[in-house]
Amino acid sequence: MKIGLLSKTPDNYSNSRLIEEAAKRDIEVLPIDYSHCDLIIDPLHPDIFYKGESLKHLDAVVPRVGIIKSTYGMAVIRQFEALNIYCLNSSLGISRARDKMRTLQLLAQKNLPFPSSAVANDSMAGPKLLHHVGGVPTVMKLTEGMQGKGTVLAETENSAKSIIEAFSMMNTNLILQRFIKESKGTDIRAFVLNGKVVASISRSSEDDFRSNLHLGGKAITIKLTPKEREIAVKAAKEFKLNMAGIDILRSDDGPLILEVNACPGLEGVEKTTGTNIAEKIVEFLLEHSEQVKTKPNYHKKTSL
Ligand SMILES: Nc1ncnc2c1ncn2[C@@H]1O[C@H](COP(=O)(O)OP(=O)(O)OP(=O)(O)O)[C@@H](O)[C@H]1O
Ligand SMILES: [Mg+2]
Repeated sequence: MKIGLLSKTPDNYSNSRLIEEAAKRDIEVLPIDYSHCDLIIDPLHPDIFYKGESLKHLDAVVPRVGIIKSTYGMAVIRQFEALNIYCLNSSLGISRARDKMRTLQLLAQKNLPFPSSAVANDSMAGPKLLHHVGGVPTVMKLTEGMQGKGTVLAETENSAKSIIEAFSMMNTNLILQRFIKESKGTDIRAFVLNGKVVASISRSSEDDFRSNLHLGGKAITIKLTPKEREIAVKAAKEFKLNMAGIDILRSDDGPLILEVNACPGLEGVEKTTGTNIAEKIVEFLLEHSEQVKTKPNYHKKTSL
């Protein structure tokens, strides 16, 4: 078996762990930087080349972070799907999760709980949006935020108004969200694989409302309530993700989904819980990539 690891940084913790666990099973992992891929888009004979060599022989691919943030990276994932090469997560699931506005719309459509949210594009309805999310303090997020950067707390109506106006002038969408103060700078990451929560941690910050580990948050193993487990599994299923990191806040009204990550990192969860997640991923791929390669599947109803 040969797995393609779509990432520009094969040396980071998550990727090294996948390579290590695959090697224990004599599975070869080929790191692929999507920016060196060329595609032949053809209804009958599609192909994909990496540094000039065809990748048709791969059995499975694992899309990792960088690729899912890039439009070309997404085209590369769709090309593997057109070649019937098994992708750990589908391009449909990834594109749903990588777009914060689409994520919120899908959560609403599927009746999954999330903090009241609005999107400011033109500042005119600012006060109405603010009212919808429960007034100040309110959380404001850039749609392209990452690792907590791009998420701020507006404490007063004046500051909320000026932030909305500033971003509207720059033609940048801004997500306004009810501030769940009772979560006290703590959120939960449920790691879902193959329809099950395989590990869960809570992350807390002592001096910031954002719990991101990259910003100094501390993680501990946590046991989920049945309701938390249920919404985490349902979210992964509705987004069509085999692997997902579902971020949850504990609120007075029950658990609320904050985010759906199509490419959750392994370091925080593995080191905190001691669960060998990389091994579980490799086993999942072994089991599921043995699909018989048929003709190219452009006609299959998938993600396009
Ligand atoms: N509505 C909210 N109420 C309370 N705390 C929040 C709320 N939204 C976000 N937070 C806190 O801020 C942190 C960062 O927010 P969020 O996860 O939305 O953005 P991000 O981490 O920058 O995005 P990404 O996870 O895509 O990198 C969360 O982990 C959580 O601790
Ligand atoms: Mg986050």
